[in-house]
Amino acid sequence: MAWRSKFFISVFLLASTIQAITVPTSPPSNAGNIDKSLVAVSLEFFAFPQYTTLVSTSTCLNNVANLRGSPVAVRIGGTTQDRATYDPNLSSAVEYSVDDPADAPASLNFGPSFFSLAANMSGEVTVGLNRQLNNQGNTRDAAVQAKNTMPNLFAIELGNEPDCDWNQNADEASEQSWFNALSTSVGNIFQGAVYLGWDTSPLVSALGSAIVHVKSISRHSYPQSACGGASTDLRSLMSHSSIVSYTSQFKSGATTTHNAGLRYFLGETNSATCGGGGISPTFGAALWIVDYVLQGALNGVDRLYFHQGTIGNCQYCWWGRFTTGAPFYGVAFVSEFLGTDGTKVAMLDNGTGAVASYVVYNSANTPVRLLVYNSNYYDGTGTRSSTSVTFTGGGIPSSGAKTAKRLTAPNATSRVDMGARVTIGSGGTFDGNCNAIGTQVRENVAVNGGLTVSVSASEALIVYL
Ligand SMILES: *[C@@H]1O[C@H](CO)[C@@H](O)[C@H](O)[C@H]1NC(C)=O
Ligand SMILES: *[C@@H]1O[C@H](CO)[C@@H](O)[C@H](O)[C@H]1NC(C)=O
Ligand SMILES: *[C@@H]1O[C@H](CO)[C@@H](O)[C@H](O)[C@H]1NC(C)=O
Ligand SMILES: *[C@@H]1O[C@H](CO)[C@@H](O)[C@H](O)[C@H]1NC(C)=O
Repeated sequence: MAWRSKFFISVFLLASTIQAITVPTSPPSNAGNIDKSLVAVSLEFFAFPQYTTLVSTSTCLNNVANLRGSPVAVRIGGTTQDRATYDPNLSSAVEYSVDDPADAPASLNFGPSFFSLAANMSGEVTVGLNRQLNNQGNTRDAAVQAKNTMPNLFAIELGNEPDCDWNQNADEASEQSWFNALSTSVGNIFQGAVYLGWDTSPLVSALGSAIVHVKSISRHSYPQSACGGASTDLRSLMSHSSIVSYTSQFKSGATTTHNAGLRYFLGETNSATCGGGGISPTFGAALWIVDYVLQGALNGVDRLYFHQGTIGNCQYCWWGRFTTGAPFYGVAFVSEFLGTDGTKVAMLDNGTGAVASYVVYNSANTPVRLLVYNSNYYDGTGTRSSTSVTFTGGGIPSSGAKTAKRLTAPNATSRVDMGARVTIGSGGTFDGNCNAIGTQVRENVAVNGGLTVSVSASEALIVYL
């Protein structure tokens, strides 16, 4: 059978590249901290009450909470927070009219029961209130109601993305004066900045003594734009080196914020602006989430709040008026990698190649799981290449066996909402209400001098150490 093994070896060399990685026995100095709600969710302000009526909202959030051993933090806000007026006499949570159910309202009212719904979320909640309409009394009434109703209130934002229609100096002065004014009623509970494009560091220094009123700083982040029919590109969205390069912009803002004693969040993020483009519901976007979340943590981002917009008109949403989308599979997978015990994450590759390797450490500084992400783009045409990665060090024994779990799909463009089968552990999927169904199976990985796994283009794998 000699001819046969020779044949296999040459095929293997053609379709594969090989990498060798040494796992540090304890977290290296550039490891990132893992917040208990690193993967968080942002719900568009006007749509929030409707989200609470969807079964998937609680099942999806509970799935992540169970994988992480901690409830998911939620931010309620977005463009429509700056179109909203509080009405203390309104019996419904929210009141607006739109010509088309796919539209977001141009103005809306909300009542006290909005905050009762928010109080019922299991994780910490950040509420985005209005600054744009410059009605400080109304926003104060809403903030007081939120504070009195919500034991889970983490922070209050005042205004959303002021950089879209203001200048930065004017905004800094305005944030400072609003924090000073409203803190007399609700205390030191604000989330500052909420910028789409501006660097947040100048605000942190400009706030001066008003910084005491602030708990967290929020930057919004969308790597691509789908506004006005702009074209999007899946290959670059999911490229590991592109993700490493894109997320490096957050490091200095995170450092400035942490040095001021505050938390640093991507308070609203997703794949492409304006509700997402055709790339947003794909399996490639699920893989993007895995890598983007880990790179966020490595750059000092404490939480990434993935935005869920208008229900039924939202390409990047994880759930809504369609089955549980492919992106949620990435959320579940990275949540399993972070686990209930993960406290630090480190990147083990150099960040310039297509294949990423990560390790998660527990609170005893012991490596507990590895993750390989092969970001080579496979769209279903041609041969699907694969990469073998051999791990040594990190307490990996020289022989024996470990187990692994794979996240895969027919190709990067696969969409669950179009019938494609995305799977975790070969048989695991989610039904339309976000319930985990099927059986997730772990593969056996033989250890022979090193731990070698093979991961195909547009696939990811967790190894349990
Ligand atoms: C709410 O109702 C009270 C009593 O009915 C009234 O005095 C107040 O003006 C109303 N407030 C608003 C904002 O409509
Ligand atoms: C609060 O949440 C629980 C379970 O998460 C749900 O059964 C209940 O209906 C919710 N109450 C409101 C007022 O939404
Ligand atoms: C980074 O890693 C890739 C893949 O292993 C390798 O091809 C490349 O030469 C490395 N680059 C540097 C600068 O070390
Ligand atoms: C990619 O996968 C989907 C199924 O998810 C399939 O419909 C499509 O044809 C595949 N693309 C190619 C080029 O084969």
